[in-house]
Amino acid sequence: MTTANATPFWLAGHQATGEDHFDVTNPWDTSVVAGVSIPTAAQVEEAVVAAEAAEKTFAATPAHIRAAALDHVSKRLAERTEEIARLITAENGKPLKWARGEVGRAVSVFRWAAEEARRFNSGEAQRLDTDAGGVGRLALTRRFTKGPVLGIAPFNFPLNLVAHKVAPAIAVGAPIILKPAPATPLSALLLGELLAETEGLPAGAWSVLPVPNDRMPSLVQDRRLPVVSFTGSDKVGYQILDSVPRKHTTLELGGNAAAVVLADWSSEADLEWAASRIATFSNYQGGQSCISVQRVIADAAVYDRLAEKIVAKVAAQVTGDPSDDATDVGPLVDENAARRVESWVEDAVTKGAKLLAGGIRDGASYAPTVLAELPADAILATEEVFGPVLSLRKVNGTGEAFAAVNDSRFGLQSGVFTHDLQTAFRAHRELEVGGVIIGDAPSYRADQMPYGGVKDSGVGREGVKYAMDDYTYERVLVLTGLDL
Ligand code: SIN
Repeated sequence: MTTANATPFWLAGHQATGEDHFDVTNPWDTSVVAGVSIPTAAQVEEAVVAAEAAEKTFAATPAHIRAAALDHVSKRLAERTEEIARLITAENGKPLKWARGEVGRAVSVFRWAAEEARRFNSGEAQRLDTDAGGVGRLALTRRFTKGPVLGIAPFNFPLNLVAHKVAPAIAVGAPIILKPAPATPLSALLLGELLAETEGLPAGAWSVLPVPNDRMPSLVQDRRLPVVSFTGSDKVGYQILDSVPRKHTTLELGGNAAAVVLADWSSEADLEWAASRIATFSNYQGGQSCISVQRVIADAAVYDRLAEKIVAKVAAQVTGDPSDDATDVGPLVDENAARRVESWVEDAVTKGAKLLAGGIRDGASYAPTVLAELPADAILATEEVFGPVLSLRKVNGTGEAFAAVNDSRFGLQSGVFTHDLQTAFRAHRELEVGGVIIGDAPSYRADQMPYGGVKDSGVGREGVKYAMDDYTYERVLVLTGLDL
């Protein structure tokens, strides 16, 4: 590709091109999918100035205009599902079936944002005559935007995790500059086409700028962008937090999610379901999801039967060309990623882990892999693999199982297979994570739910309404002298 025919970016709602470009390659066959134009420093400055200039107008834009814009994007995403899914597959390597699912989720994120925009900020009244000094007074609390948002999106959901930053910003009327992942900017740039079709949003309300990573620190530190919403690795996330401790920073970081299978989840049908969900969700998108199953913690009463089923189901995952409808597991984002996963599995096996399935790399693809008896000093025992690798651990009883879940520096989501309601509430109380899923894998996410972690998995929450809260703050109005 050349700079002349590279895909333009979106600067303050309009298409623009820079003086240079980079190529986006298909992880499956390394073909060039498209070139992408890179904004110059002056163009980035233009976008920041436009975002700052739009702040007041956008916040004052009526809810019906913001909601209509969001509804429009939702509708157009649905209409163009197949084309967008194929673009996600081409730039990310995600199997088409999962790419279609991702577009469906983005449709829902924009629809939810439209609904929340209509509900947002009706205000909350509080009586103040609970003390003698407050007689005749009333407090009215409404939310106001903190200012323009800098959204930094990851490669693993190149459309939906962009949607999770952009849609809530539009819903509250906060300008946003969205920086897509360098490996997968095309879905975000296509989303720009749909945003550009909307009416009534001020210029500067949104930009999509594929700024190279090495130029991001100055943008992160720019005081005109007081909110930073980042999804990606814990290393980069905490570098951002440390570099701008006075900004509002939302960090949606990694995890090494556990699926716990307890002794009461023991019928043939129970174990079939658990094994099938675990095999699917340790490998979906090549395990490149922060909530893909990395650890299975199973009670000794069910361990052997469960392990046998998991190994069979993991081995049955269809690997190959992600553009093939039948493919379950495609390549990782690039060959370096697959090499890293390979080296971590080798590290585990050298230190004594048992390899039950997989363990083979072919270019950027890594075979769905199951390990058992993972030693505590293996890299895989403590770090997020972000690949199709699962380890099995046998425990005795619920207490030991929950302690094993919590024995991690991460805490994003956890799945607990149990029929017992008391145990479900115990899991909710005791597990140090942002979400507990009962009767399913930890990878379940409905886009309107609060989503985010504790410990090294991040701070703040996404999920449409929760991101809207993160982008805004409460301001109270006290009315006095009222005859109430
Ligand atoms: C993530 O990888 O954190 C996002 C997972 C999801 O949205 O399903």
